[in-house]
Amino acid sequence: MKEWFSIAQNINLLVKNAVRSLDWDLEIFQADIKPADPRFGDFQSNGVLPYAKKTNQNPRTLASNLEKAIQGSTNFPAEGIKTSIAGPGFINFKLSHSFLFQWLNYFSNEKILRSSFNSSDTNNKTIVDFSSPNTAKQMHVGHLRSAVIGESLCRLLDFSGNQVIRDNHIGDWGTQFGILIHAVKHFEFEFTGDPSHQLEDIEELYRKGNQLAKEDLTALDQARAELVELQKGNEEHLTIWKKINELSYKAFQEIYDLLNIRFDFVLGESFYRNQVNTVYKQLTDAKIAEISEGALVVFHPEHPRFNKQPFIIRKADGASNYASTDLATALYRKNELKADKMVYVTDGRQQDHFEQLKRTVEKWQASGTDLPSIQHIWFGTILGSDNKAIKTRDGSPIKLKDLLEESVTRALSAVEEKNPNLSDVEKNEIARVIGIGAVRYADLSQNRTSDYVFEWDKILSFDGNTAPYLLYATARIKSIFRKLKLNPDQTNFEQATTYETDAEIALARKLIGFVDAMYQTLSDLRPHLLCNYLYQLAGQFSSFYNADKVNVKDPAIKDRRLQLCAQTLTILEIGLHLLGLEKVEKM
Ligand code: ARG
Repeated sequence: MKEWFSIAQNINLLVKNAVRSLDWDLEIFQADIKPADPRFGDFQSNGVLPYAKKTNQNPRTLASNLEKAIQGSTNFPAEGIKTSIAGPGFINFKLSHSFLFQWLNYFSNEKILRSSFNSSDTNNKTIVDFSSPNTAKQMHVGHLRSAVIGESLCRLLDFSGNQVIRDNHIGDWGTQFGILIHAVKHFEFEFTGDPSHQLEDIEELYRKGNQLAKEDLTALDQARAELVELQKGNEEHLTIWKKINELSYKAFQEIYDLLNIRFDFVLGESFYRNQVNTVYKQLTDAKIAEISEGALVVFHPEHPRFNKQPFIIRKADGASNYASTDLATALYRKNELKADKMVYVTDGRQQDHFEQLKRTVEKWQASGTDLPSIQHIWFGTILGSDNKAIKTRDGSPIKLKDLLEESVTRALSAVEEKNPNLSDVEKNEIARVIGIGAVRYADLSQNRTSDYVFEWDKILSFDGNTAPYLLYATARIKSIFRKLKLNPDQTNFEQATTYETDAEIALARKLIGFVDAMYQTLSDLRPHLLCNYLYQLAGQFSSFYNADKVNVKDPAIKDRRLQLCAQTLTILEIGLHLLGLEKVEKM
């Protein structure tokens, strides 16, 4: 990333260079740049105090030496930034209004913003492995998070200059097929029902088959044998398997259409079925894998649990499993897709699997095989009002399709109430964007590693940190321009002069914070940090709009206020797009 687009990063550099010129120990000194109390400045460096403690010196003296060194450095914009010392040794940086104005005017267009994050160190080929449901089941609420977090990460990584490949690693080769094929035969199941309910029939069949395998050990053995038969390529088994997958893929696609999600590849586990033997051989030859109780496993002696609890990569009956296909996938992604990195988006219960996968891949790499690196991005559970995993009243999982459709229906009644004069076509379109956006935003605005409670009233509210609130902010700005018969993208605000009022300055300050909010969001791939920022920006815009009239006579004031409106709109819309939301013109 090019740090000069972030003022905080620039100040960090200024401080570091000054510290270097003073010959302080850079191993000990941390600039620690934070937003400052706005009464004293825009940013604050909190590094002097801890440094003084560690080196046993007077913090006030150190601070004053550092301030002088900063002001004396050749690239210090003395016209633009004022420094001062506060408390026992904090250094404040106050940006002049014209500096803020110029800075903002320079980078607040999408092209420049985008390029500000692009550079060689982020130019990775990154596979985002997301959504990846198992076949033979409809997608339920539990499948929401991987889909929406994954889509947002693709957009964020792409925006910051990575080459992103979206891969849906569908679970189409697992133990469910042993049970299912056994059940198809046992219950003489025919694939003849109403096509729109066939997947439900299969789910029902699975429930029955699973029950049977639980009650009757021979049935369980038979189911396992059916899986081995399928994996060997038995025609009859493959036909049943294919039928079930086709129905599943069709149902998944409906959800992806609703959520506006696309993939570059849909390569299910089965795609790798003939590549697992290479994995077994390479890992055995490299002495990474060994046979234990008949299975091929990898122990990780350096780990407190995985030293005894191995990663099973081929089952004792010879069947491949989740680990075998994931290892084969890593190899394929390097050799065929030339990936540098893989980001997996799954729920937190798979942390052990990915920890073992990562360790195994790292050892495999150390043995001389080229493989992509692994990052596991995990998330918590969506809870109902009872604080337990969300369910329907009768205790079954809520179908994702029902949830999304309900959200659109609820949004439609809100739109009808708010803006009854819109045409039906407009109302339906707006309701779709708000309804889908609300579910999405509710998910992304929570720290992904926490559980959260799903509440309709909260997520669809027009107040608070919600999609309707933010979409409304964009619609409001558009209506300002519409009333003036202007287009925010095509106006050049020629007469704009530098900021004067408190409200203008506060909004401008918030706007320049976008770059830093993005740095934070990207550093550990946590979209809620971007949501928090957008929510604050929309709030700051509201205060500005209430305090300062935009459509005034003086063209200088009018232009600069309009420009702030346009810049807010650009950043809100870029942000919402990065979260996967669509745009609205009116609301
Ligand atoms: N199918 C798995 C599940 O439903 C998720 C797969 C994640 N991707 C992977 N390469 N293991 O939990």
